[in-house]
Amino acid sequence: MNQMSRMRLVEIGPDNVRAACRIAVAPEQEQFVAPVAFSLAEAYARPNVAWPRLVYDGDEVVGFVMGAFDPDSPVPMFRCGVWRLNIAADRQGRGYGRFAVDGVLAEARRRGNSRATVLWVPGEGGPEDFYLKLGFRPTGEELDGQVVGAIDLG
Ligand SMILES: CC(C)(COP(=O)(O)OP(=O)(O)OC[C@H]1O[C@@H](n2cnc3c(N)ncnc32)[C@H](O)[C@@H]1OP(=O)(O)O)[C@@H](O)C(=O)NCCC(=O)NCCS
Repeated sequence: MNQMSRMRLVEIGPDNVRAACRIAVAPEQEQFVAPVAFSLAEAYARPNVAWPRLVYDGDEVVGFVMGAFDPDSPVPMFRCGVWRLNIAADRQGRGYGRFAVDGVLAEARRRGNSRATVLWVPGEGGPEDFYLKLGFRPTGEELDGQVVGAIDLG
C-alpha cells in the first residue's frame, strides 16, 4: 500500500481522545498553534462550528486538524476555513499537513463553499510558507497580529 492510501481523517471519540491530546509540535512551534486539548475544548463549546479530526497514518495518530464552518458569521473570514492544525513534531515533512488541509477543503466544498480562509502567526519557523505552498494568499487583512489567508475552491 502506498503512503497516500494509508492517510485518513478520523473523528475523535473515547478511543482516541487521549492520543489526540498527546500530539505535540516542537517547543519552538508552540507560539504558532494552540495545544490540541485547548482546541478540543473550543470544539466542545462550539459543536456546530468546529470540525475536529485526527490525522492517521495507518493505525498511528500523526496530527490534528480542525475546520471551522460558520456560514452565518457576520465576519467573512470566520465562515469557512482551517481553524487549527498540529502535526506531531517527529512526523512533519511527510505530507500529513497537506493531507489534513485538503480534507478540510474537501469538507468545505461538500458544504457548498467557494472560498476558505486560514489565519497564521507570521514569523520564522511558522506555517506561512506551508500555507502559501498550498495555494492560500494573504487577503491584506490582519487579526490580532495574524495574517489572513484565503484560497479559492472553484
Ligand atoms: C505547518 C505544519 C502543519 C506543516 O505540516 P507538515 O506535515 O510538516 O507539512 P507537509 O509535509 O504536508 O508539507 C507540504 C508542503 O509544504 C512544505 N512545507 C511544510 N512546512 C513548511 C515550512 N514551514 N516552510 C516551507 N515549506 C513548508 C513542504 O516542504 C511540502 O512541500 P512539497 O509538497 O513541495 O514537498 C507543521 O509544521 C506544524 O504542525 N507546525 C506547527 C504548528 C503550526 O504552525 N500549525 C499551523 C497553525 S495556523
